[in-house]
Amino acid sequence: MKNEMIIVLDFGGQYNQLIARRVRECNVYCEVKPYTMTIDEIKALNPRGIIFTGGPNSVYDESSPHYDKEIFELGIPILGICYGSQLMAYTLDGVVETAPVSEYGHTEVDVDTTDVLFEGVSEKTVCWMSHTDYISKTPEGFKVTAHTPVCPVAAMACPERKLYATQFHPEVMHTKEGMKMLSNFVYKVCGCAGDWKMESFVESTIQSLREKIGSGKVLCALSGGVDSSVAAVLLSKAVGKQLTCVFVDHGLLRKNEGDEVEAVFGPDGPYELNFIRVNAQQRYYDKLKGVEEPERKRKIIGEEFIRVFEEEAKKIGAVDFLVQGTIYPDVIESGLGKSAVIKSHHNVGGLPDVVDFKEIIEPLRMLFKDEVRKAGLELGMPEYLVFRQPFPGPGLGVRIVGEVTEEKVRIVQEADYIYREELAKAGADKNLGQYFAALTNMRSVGVMGDFRTYDYAVALRAVLTSDFMTAEAAEIPWDVLSKVASRIVNEVKGVNRVLYDCTGKPPATIEFE
Ligand code: XMP
Repeated sequence: MKNEMIIVLDFGGQYNQLIARRVRECNVYCEVKPYTMTIDEIKALNPRGIIFTGGPNSVYDESSPHYDKEIFELGIPILGICYGSQLMAYTLDGVVETAPVSEYGHTEVDVDTTDVLFEGVSEKTVCWMSHTDYISKTPEGFKVTAHTPVCPVAAMACPERKLYATQFHPEVMHTKEGMKMLSNFVYKVCGCAGDWKMESFVESTIQSLREKIGSGKVLCALSGGVDSSVAAVLLSKAVGKQLTCVFVDHGLLRKNEGDEVEAVFGPDGPYELNFIRVNAQQRYYDKLKGVEEPERKRKIIGEEFIRVFEEEAKKIGAVDFLVQGTIYPDVIESGLGKSAVIKSHHNVGGLPDVVDFKEIIEPLRMLFKDEVRKAGLELGMPEYLVFRQPFPGPGLGVRIVGEVTEEKVRIVQEADYIYREELAKAGADKNLGQYFAALTNMRSVGVMGDFRTYDYAVALRAVLTSDFMTAEAAEIPWDVLSKVASRIVNEVKGVNRVLYDCTGKPPATIEFE
């Protein structure tokens, strides 16, 4: 069965992914496509509706992206957002002008609630504006359906042709009733029924994996992270013992993590698959001995992973399929499908070069992260695995400053465990982008009981971030921090000081290496 689909036609706006995610939150499948896609390609996809994104250009720029007027004649409903709304007006012979000052930020908008896009929305509603150009005259046949004191056409509509446009951004959360508007568009304008449910995704993916794989052999590098774990479970449900998962414990995992992964995927776990845990801890510690430079450490960890995996793959012999946990943001970010594989190769440290296989399988390549998590729950996976925070491939190797030793790994594991436990107990872990303990390479004098100590300082970090490209330090309640600090110095041997990292990114990074 093919899902009904909405296309987000990308004109270079920063919110292209977000629009697609919001539409999917309405249980309607949605894909982001480049504006260079032809009319015939669009028709072939048979979309229920199209959304034009915003973009940084003015419709009058010579290089600005445009689209063939014919798209408005297809009878497919279209919603233009920001630049997309101006493009609609301009292409259909309305007038777009440049305002002397930009309208930016939260703006109270008067909307016509008799218009289908605004059904159920308040007459005055706060929306997110970010524009300099504006529509000064609507094309023929359109009516104005929203305005602000400085923006005469904050929204317009031509219901007969199913064309709608908003100057503001319904997809961002600052637009209070934006979800209502998008849901009106997909359900009431496009007539979608809402058939995008994780339950059916999981079922149909298992079915198609079975058909594709037949009796073939499948290999998966399992890191214990969300994406590779969900991919592994999907594959195990589809082909059972034809799947072999290799999990490399490099000795740089969080406390108990290796055992947790084994408990789920190993022989005593609920899934039928071949699970190989490689205990390569000592190999890594040996290789990392005396190495202080952070990039060098990363290289060693990455290269060693490939070596270990290669050895295991040789034992298994040639396989038919190699599984990768690529997800949709990787696909969009690497150029809308053209070069998606490059990044996923990178994610698993160059594996395809060293493994003899016929084809790569990426069962999650059309899912956003929150959908991967939903699929995991649907598959019955435990919540602690499904809601894991991101954990870097090089593991604690990038959370220990200076040389990595077994002793330092133990310290950071214990400290991090206490930190996570106390944050969870206090409910202070909600909304945090990432949080962890790291080990500074600093030792200093302290006093414990009647004794002088000369021990390490642990750094605690917690950041708020939505994209991991920028981040700000989170405010953790003082009582939680002081409890964590006191537990760490009391319970973790070798630590006499706990520091909190108040730096954002930039200028720091999220990891502490
Ligand atoms: P930084 O430290 O660069 O981290 O601000 C940004 C995000 O990326 C994660 N990270 C990695 N993830 N392999 C990964 O899979 C890596 O080598 C790696 N280095 C950093 C980091 O945890 C944060 O979420």
